[in-house]
Amino acid sequence: MKNNTLRHKATAISPANIAFIKYWGKKDPKLNIPFNDSISMNLSGCSTKTVVEYDPTFRNDLVIVNGTEVKDDKRKRVVDFLDIIRKMAGKKWFAKVVSDNNFPSDAGIASSASAFSALALAGSRAIGLELPPRKLSILARLGSGSACRSVFDGFSIWKKGSGNNSSYAVAFAKPNFWNLVDIVAVVDAGTKKASSTEGHEAATTSPYFKTRLNELKKRIPALKKAFLARDFGKFGELVEEEAISLHVAAMTSRPPIFYWNKGTLEVMETVFGLRERGIPAYFTMDAGPNVHIICLDEDSKRVNLALKKLQFVKFTIINRPGKGTMLLK
Ligand code: PMV
Repeated sequence: MKNNTLRHKATAISPANIAFIKYWGKKDPKLNIPFNDSISMNLSGCSTKTVVEYDPTFRNDLVIVNGTEVKDDKRKRVVDFLDIIRKMAGKKWFAKVVSDNNFPSDAGIASSASAFSALALAGSRAIGLELPPRKLSILARLGSGSACRSVFDGFSIWKKGSGNNSSYAVAFAKPNFWNLVDIVAVVDAGTKKASSTEGHEAATTSPYFKTRLNELKKRIPALKKAFLARDFGKFGELVEEEAISLHVAAMTSRPPIFYWNKGTLEVMETVFGLRERGIPAYFTMDAGPNVHIICLDEDSKRVNLALKKLQFVKFTIINRPGKGTMLLK
């Protein structure tokens, strides 16, 4: 029986993250360089576990996601990413990649962030590279922009930078800095209609896109300040404003992209209602219909109960600030 070193095998686990300030639009689509900084929290309840094994005798790359071999574009994205790692390591070995999510893929719960950060760590370690966190963040970004923020524990900021070596995430606050809870209200667990890649491509065609970037000049420092002061009311307002801003840009791009559905609106109205009843809760969404409700730990049970009663909510996932990308023995 060969040991793991000889088998060039490694396993990593990595969280999805929810962005409070979002990455939307690519300045450099090949390198995934964004137009603006973004800020996120890792999700303790949504992760991807990935095993990568290289073998000089393999004749091709094999990619299995959630028990099914993936083909075409999805496979190509993984193979292209493995090619980057192989180039870094100076090796030409093919790999077997087995990846499993503990949450629905492609439903706007940032499966690409957890997937590519886990693949970056497992793929680089298995081939013999020991990347420091910044380099790992840069590598993960090349797979999927938002993946660069999953590397660090707790809360991260992705500094947009201006090129490959200056665009990476850094830790912003440890998981225990603030007892925030993110409850994902899943209103549709199927594949979303437009991918985030399509959304990024269309973003700059929105006449609102420039205004959004201008607004971010104020919103980013304001959100950082509210976060560091643990001012939940102010923080929540900014998180919601930011989510609406992304979706307005998406809805007004050419072609227009509507990620929201009936369930999304039902949840948004419920969140407004909770606030009217004195329960502080705020919503945000990524490129999909599912809604992330941000609240404080002490209110999370009541918020979760209110969400689970809704007609269009299939189930909820409760997340606390989670750990970053890790190797598993
Ligand atoms: O990393 P991508 O290419 O899947 O883009 C993610 C985009 C959003 O989830 C909508 C926003 C974000 O910053 O996570």
